[in-house]
Amino acid sequence: MNTQDFTFLVNMLKKTSGHVLAEDKGYLLDSRLGPIARKENYDSVDALIKAMRTKNDDRLNAIVTEAMTTNETFFFRDRTPFDLFKSDVIPHLTANRPAGSKIKIWCAAASSGQEPYSLAMIMREEAARMKGLQSSILATDISDKVLEKAKTGLYSQFEVQRGLPVQLMVKYFEKANDLWRIDPRLQQHITFRKFNLLENFRGLGQFDVVFCRNVLIYFDQATKTDILNRLAQSIAPDGFLFLGAAETVMGLSDAFVPVPGKRGLYIRKGQAAAAQVA
Ligand SMILES: C[S@@+](CC[C@H](N)C(=O)[O-])C[C@H]1O[C@@H](n2cnc3c(N)ncnc32)[C@H](O)[C@@H]1O
Repeated sequence: MNTQDFTFLVNMLKKTSGHVLAEDKGYLLDSRLGPIARKENYDSVDALIKAMRTKNDDRLNAIVTEAMTTNETFFFRDRTPFDLFKSDVIPHLTANRPAGSKIKIWCAAASSGQEPYSLAMIMREEAARMKGLQSSILATDISDKVLEKAKTGLYSQFEVQRGLPVQLMVKYFEKANDLWRIDPRLQQHITFRKFNLLENFRGLGQFDVVFCRNVLIYFDQATKTDILNRLAQSIAPDGFLFLGAAETVMGLSDAFVPVPGKRGLYIRKGQAAAAQVA
């Protein structure tokens, strides 16, 4: 691909998704955009990009942006955040929210649903200790394709064997031909919706807990800072933020502080109450 075409693609992806396409990631182009070029009747990825440069077609830009996202995920990924959610976050919210109220959780880059479904399983397991506290999970992603899969609640044998404790698999999944279907009762509390993290969060409301894991890594410093600062406005003063293992607020945003000894868990700056429990 010539420099002008590559630069066009870099700028387009930055604008549509915030993603920074580094030059050393050029190898991804053929594997991810080759199938799209064929489907859209172009001879090659180069021909596809050239056409995009002249057409300025939002539909094609969105398809290419989606294809360039990395959707890797699995149940209870990295384990620790889910352990902390159970051991620290749920007890804090149970103690500090009126009985019977609803705690609001946002999975801000939910991919094919394993993250929100993992949280739904924990909450069902912990229900007896939650003093009637209800929960709702908003699970968003920029990609329609992964959201469609998440909504079906159907996973392959390989996917249910990655990270999911066997007793939870037995309890919450049933065989559906050669796939596994998640218990529809877990789906009732989850709303899947397309949402780009570059958009304004205001319409989404305020959350007690936000999982924004393994997505900031794709953005540049300014975009990470902007998203973290806006997330602070969307999280209750004593709420919680979970980031991925390779992500941090350090050097990016003063709105959050890490909870010492609790990897991946952040609270809003100055919130002693949440820190004490957490
Ligand atoms: C690597 S997956 C992480 C999934 C899950 N959070 C986890 O940790 O397992 C990153 C997800 O972020 C989504 N994503 C990328 N850019 C986005 C954006 N600008 N807005 C919303 N979602 C985005 C991708 O489509 C992808 O599904």
